[in-house]
Amino acid sequence: MEAQIFVSDDSKVFHLTNGSFSYIFQCLPDGHLSHLWSGKAVRPDAQYTHFHEIYPRPMTSCPNENSWYSQEHTAQEYGTFGSSDFRSPALEIRHPDGSTLSDFRLKSWTIQEGKPALKRLPATYCEDSTEAKTLECTLWDEKNNLELVLSYTIFSRGNVIARNSRLINHGQQPVYATDVQSLCLDLPDNDYEWMQFSGAWGRERHLKNRKLEQGITAIGSRRGHSSHNHNPVVLLKRPYTDETQGEAFGIALVYSGNFQIQAECDTYDQTRILAGIHPDGFSWKLEFEEEFQSPEALLVWTDQGLNDLSQTFHALFQKRLARGYWRDRPRPILNNNWEATMFDFDEETLVKIASKAKECGVELFVLDDGWFGDRRNDKAGLGDWVANPTLLPHGIAGLSKRIHELGMEMGLWFEPEMVNKDSNLYRQHPDWILEVPGRTPCQGRNQFVLDFSRQEVVEAIYTMMCAILDEADLSYIKWDMNRSITDCYSSALPADRQPETAHRYILGVYQLYERLIQRYPKILFESCASGGGRFDPGMLYYAPQAWCSDDSDAIERLKIQYGTSYAYPISSIGAHISEIPNQQVYRNVPLHTRANVACFGTSGYELDLNSLAEDELEQVKEQISFMKKNRELLQFGKFYRLQSPFDGNVTSWMVVSKDQKEAIVGWYRTLSHANQPASKIRLQGLDPNCRYTITTQGCHPYQNHRPYGDELMNIGLITSDGLCGQVGVMDKYYGDFDSRLFLIKAVEPEELLV
Ligand code: GLA
Repeated sequence: MEAQIFVSDDSKVFHLTNGSFSYIFQCLPDGHLSHLWSGKAVRPDAQYTHFHEIYPRPMTSCPNENSWYSQEHTAQEYGTFGSSDFRSPALEIRHPDGSTLSDFRLKSWTIQEGKPALKRLPATYCEDSTEAKTLECTLWDEKNNLELVLSYTIFSRGNVIARNSRLINHGQQPVYATDVQSLCLDLPDNDYEWMQFSGAWGRERHLKNRKLEQGITAIGSRRGHSSHNHNPVVLLKRPYTDETQGEAFGIALVYSGNFQIQAECDTYDQTRILAGIHPDGFSWKLEFEEEFQSPEALLVWTDQGLNDLSQTFHALFQKRLARGYWRDRPRPILNNNWEATMFDFDEETLVKIASKAKECGVELFVLDDGWFGDRRNDKAGLGDWVANPTLLPHGIAGLSKRIHELGMEMGLWFEPEMVNKDSNLYRQHPDWILEVPGRTPCQGRNQFVLDFSRQEVVEAIYTMMCAILDEADLSYIKWDMNRSITDCYSSALPADRQPETAHRYILGVYQLYERLIQRYPKILFESCASGGGRFDPGMLYYAPQAWCSDDSDAIERLKIQYGTSYAYPISSIGAHISEIPNQQVYRNVPLHTRANVACFGTSGYELDLNSLAEDELEQVKEQISFMKKNRELLQFGKFYRLQSPFDGNVTSWMVVSKDQKEAIVGWYRTLSHANQPASKIRLQGLDPNCRYTITTQGCHPYQNHRPYGDELMNIGLITSDGLCGQVGVMDKYYGDFDSRLFLIKAVEPEELLV
């Protein structure tokens, strides 16, 4: 069913539905908005106002005389603090009289086809207006002449509601918004497990689960970027929900700066979810007729298990958040020189690496850090985006010409937001960094953060980047960001606007991205922040893929990529094959397993292929031709998690083509054990009535057998080492860190006759 928004005039009930999901709230007689239901669809022609229960309780504060109505006991659409609601608020404003109590009541609403864009912020979008409907409720705080617009978009496909809020000051005196959340959702119970994706540099997005309890469960970032530490996505699942069945919500913030997502369970076992900019250190001054626009938050719902929830996120992020030329295109196989050379290279070294890569079938050569200014280590050069003539006598244009002559595309690394003190940019503009006057700012990796809240700073970096991009033939940019933001003070803002700096900074980053993608629409952007420190939905609007982690060890990557897959599509996950021993964990993982992990991502090589032996180079050539043949399926197929690395020694996942005729299963065993138990994996997403052929490395039990989809899904795919009793027929045993890909193809009717 197409998305619909029903509004009953008499009871003022707003019902957003797409036939499988309903989101319902009502306007109470006093104008406050109260939430009634979000979850499995209910019929649009019924009234649900009886779910608003009012009954006397001790210690209740009631805003209206002669009524037991209290905001504390009523699910709110957008709670505010200071009157009878004691939970964490969605909105807090410091008014001219010093009070912080707001009272917003519904004044009007509009319903429109499609989805309006958000000014200066990333957001999901529609390609045609039948894909979604948008309800905007305008509320008013009469005392202070403030307007609050709560926006809700329901999509026809996928159970998704996109929300944002906008605050406008129509009063003559300035007000300060100190908390403007993007989403507030009051749920009627607290029987949920909270799933967050947390970690640190090198171990990003590890799944952490816990049961909600009375009190606050929260994640967030105050680091100026979404961070390695916590990702702006949280899932809430029912205790019985697993990958294949059961109810769950997903909450994601389409934002790359300071954020918070929290669940507050009150003493009546109700749960309030908030998602938005982190209120700590934030405030936004609104002069007469100025407005503040919150980022977008997404609410996704399923009753079909976590794989289904993830697939809704994947489709949305891949097709209606990512944009541009590369959105639907399989991504080039690249070779990045960073782990091969670090800072130690010149033009000849690079061409040598690229030549070997070309010989193996690589399509894109990426020159990483170290090509500009006086950068021979990480102490100098950031900010001077001009090629170093000693290393690259013919500039980036000259190098890109040679790379093209080899028959490859070329890509380049930038870290636009940063500066070293040892740089011409800093020497010319020492006031362009974020720092508090009179205090010594923190350095991180010897670098300082440029004040991207200032237009002239963004302008200067844009001009330098365009000079390179205009003269050289480049088709890819890796945009890095290698330190968290401290000393977040802008010398261009007055004292009372300093708490705006962190958000203005991110708006500056978004602006630079937007201008570059508009001017160079065919360049593929890959975002990066010391690996996955800014792997968030906001970035996907500009860069359809992101370097997932600086930890490129395949075994470490199992957890990182598995955790990432809960919200992010495979086409967004930068995953490369690097050398052994691995530079981050010193582990020796066989080449086939490194490739079998990296092919579930935007794949490439992070090493000098000249360093490999002949037989390894043959393997690399096979891997690349396999990737080229299957990347459409791997990157854009329907992805299912099968066995979790967070639960045991074996990880598996699979992708299935849209027509269910092809699938690839990735199976990975961390440690080898003697005399292992028999094992099977139940597959997902196949056509139960279709017969399939299965091929894998070496012999396997299906050699002479074409199983039906239902057999593979209900009984399972045999993954035991025993190989149907034919001991020793496997090509090779690898011991630890082994893996296999199973290629599954529908048997055409004529083949069945053979
Ligand atoms: C970060 C990135 C790496 C590499 C280096 C270069 O750590 O994550 O991939 O680009 O910077 O300095």
